[in-house]
Amino acid sequence: MSRGRNIPQHIAVIMDGNGRWAAKKGLPRFMGHRAGMTAVREVIEAAADAGVRYLSLFAFSTENWKRPSDEISALMALLVEYLDREIVELVNRGVRMTIIGDRSRLPPEVAQAVQDAEERTRSNDRLQVNIALSYGGRWDILQAARSIALEVKEGLLDPEDMTEDMVSRYLATGGVPDPDMIIRASGELRLSNFYLWQAAYSEIWSTPVLWPDFRRHHFEEALQAFSVRQRRYGEVFGEEPDPC
Ligand code: FPP
Repeated sequence: MSRGRNIPQHIAVIMDGNGRWAAKKGLPRFMGHRAGMTAVREVIEAAADAGVRYLSLFAFSTENWKRPSDEISALMALLVEYLDREIVELVNRGVRMTIIGDRSRLPPEVAQAVQDAEERTRSNDRLQVNIALSYGGRWDILQAARSIALEVKEGLLDPEDMTEDMVSRYLATGGVPDPDMIIRASGELRLSNFYLWQAAYSEIWSTPVLWPDFRRHHFEEALQAFSVRQRRYGEVFGEEPDPC
């Protein structure tokens, strides 16, 4: 993969279709999530090799807490297993892991595992992988609004001085640039409460491939599609200047 072309700085991925993948094979849903870990590994490697600096993976949404308790437990256990198994490889690859989301809802052993992974990879700077866990875009905007309201209440901030950059900094992704591209597996065309504020100008790329079947070449296909997108951010480019 050439580094010379227009590579997105930040890619966010909605890893969808694990349940359908399992159902098609007559397997329990949990097996679809397990198979999805292979795709996670491939995409992290492909992103690092391509020179992407930030990769966000939507692993568990605030709405996913409504799933049956055995599926929730299986997903949490998989995440701990993944971090345990892959941490040495991640460190060797220069990957920094960060977890974004409502940690107060995580079982203690999961909270501990994610904190350990963050600490062990803190000094890495080749690729930052943000695992969105117990994350929702509305939750994120709400927690940012609460923090801002508190600053106002304490007299530290005048509402008139608020800016969009300031709101961005209060989000769980504070300090991370907005995603240039959002990849969605399984063919759906929605954000599903992922990065609502951050996705304002993200290019969206959807593939019918179910997440457990997603491989490096699909990721590279997305990079190729991005390289020919024209991003205008609401402006008008490529026209003659108005003589007036
Ligand atoms: C959506 O598929 C996927 C999830 C809710 C979980 C994604 C988790 C993994 C890929 C496991 C490992 C993750 C990491 C970061 C190690 P779905 O269950 O909604 O599928 P469906 O729409 O076909 O039912």
